[in-house]
Amino acid sequence: MAWRRELLEKDLRTCYVAVDERTGAPCYMQWLMSSDQNWQIQTIGAFPKLKPDEALLENAYTPASHRGLGIMPAAMALIAAKAADFGARYVITFVHRDNVPSLKGCEKAGFSTYCIPRRSDAFFGVIRRLRFEATLAEAI
Ligand SMILES: CC(C)(COP(=O)(O)OP(=O)(O)OC[C@H]1O[C@@H](n2cnc3c(N)ncnc32)[C@H](O)[C@@H]1OP(=O)(O)O)[C@@H](O)C(=O)NCCC(=O)NCCS
Repeated sequence: MAWRRELLEKDLRTCYVAVDERTGAPCYMQWLMSSDQNWQIQTIGAFPKLKPDEALLENAYTPASHRGLGIMPAAMALIAAKAADFGARYVITFVHRDNVPSLKGCEKAGFSTYCIPRRSDAFFGVIRRLRFEATLAEAI
């Protein structure tokens, strides 16, 4: 939550929020970013430089009170579709391989695995190399 709060304070575009219409409470948040935000994207994590037809979807969060209701896959699919508004044809998201709820949510939203980030450090972390290894689209 602290990290997501920080992103809000950094004014990172564009955070979408789903609202529980029964109570008015926010029940999901996630950022959709375009290639014109590449400079800012590089400051928030180890992400590839987006091509003009790519978008990045990151930092999904469902509050504990609303988990397991299928909000992530539904909301994520709707938010991903918004990428077409700024000309993106491909939407990328990164999930840690141990984050099973998130992997399941992504799969249900229609995402499939296409690359694995590999990071290597040299000289005690002074030099960092990040590459994105292509993989076959496969079941996650
Ligand atoms: C990952 C996350 C966004 C999933 O959101 P969600 O709206 O609960 O997604 P879903 O309802 O599709 O649930 C996904 C899976 O999590 C399971 N789950 C996780 N926590 C649960 C809980 N408290 N109650 C019930 N089910 C839960 C569900 O069973 C479901 O698996 P299933 O499809 O086999 O039933 C949410 O768990 C979360 O915010 N986690 C912390 C932040 C995080 O990891 N973000 C992702 C960064 S990549």
